[in-house]
Amino acid sequence: MADPVVLALGGSLLRPEESKRHAWLSALANLISQCENPVGIVVGGGAPAREAIELAKPVVDDIASLDEIGIAATRLNAAIVAQVLQGAGVDVCVGIPSDVSSAARGLQNHQVVVMGGTRPGHTTDNVAIRLAIECGAAQCLIATNVSHVYTSDPRSDPSAQSIEKMTLSELQQIVGPPIHGQAGGSGVIDPIGVQAAIDHHLPLAVLDGRDIERIANALAGNSFIGTHVEVD
Ligand code: UTP
Repeated sequence: MADPVVLALGGSLLRPEESKRHAWLSALANLISQCENPVGIVVGGGAPAREAIELAKPVVDDIASLDEIGIAATRLNAAIVAQVLQGAGVDVCVGIPSDVSSAARGLQNHQVVVMGGTRPGHTTDNVAIRLAIECGAAQCLIATNVSHVYTSDPRSDPSAQSIEKMTLSELQQIVGPPIHGQAGGSGVIDPIGVQAAIDHHLPLAVLDGRDIERIANALAGNSFIGTHVEVD
């Protein structure tokens, strides 16, 4: 069987404006159904995670408990993606694995495994990177709602520049040390995942997942619009 590929889908991708969300899910299902490699998909929490964490925060004061709420939202989103793919006739592993070892085992027998978060203390970026390491993927694709990694946050810094090619340690300079700061807090990529990629020499591809063609190109190993993060 061909080598597995691993794709992290930021939760925001599941909630674009209403007119586009079903078209995006259908296009994703179409793409995955045509993929020749086994595909591990790790889905983020997006708006449901943020809403649920904000609801609980005033009365739940430890990060790990808030993380558990975030994990539940990622698994809800993973269930949506899994059902959409199954409905499109894709061979998806039944159930949402709760750890990367089970997910990697699932990829030995199924075309696709879809999962969300695993345990408190990181985000689904780190889960995807760990799954890529565990199943021997050549790289981990991180599909988010920005086109590239930027030199700084483009939402607050108009002089931020997009980066097409960088090393893992350059990325680490941007995302900071491998610390889980807060439940639901979101930088471009989880610094804990970046550290794992450095430790295991795993290249990353960061791209705008709203454009399915970019995901398709990266999955096929072709050139894609986004940031290529290479091993140092
Ligand atoms: P996400 O993976 O969606 O992280 O998990 P994020 O960075 O906050 O959101 P995006 O990527 O910008 O959409 C949502 C939250 O769930 C908890 C964390 O609190 C995370 O912020 N979580 C998730 C965990 O604690 N462990 C996991 O394995 C996954």
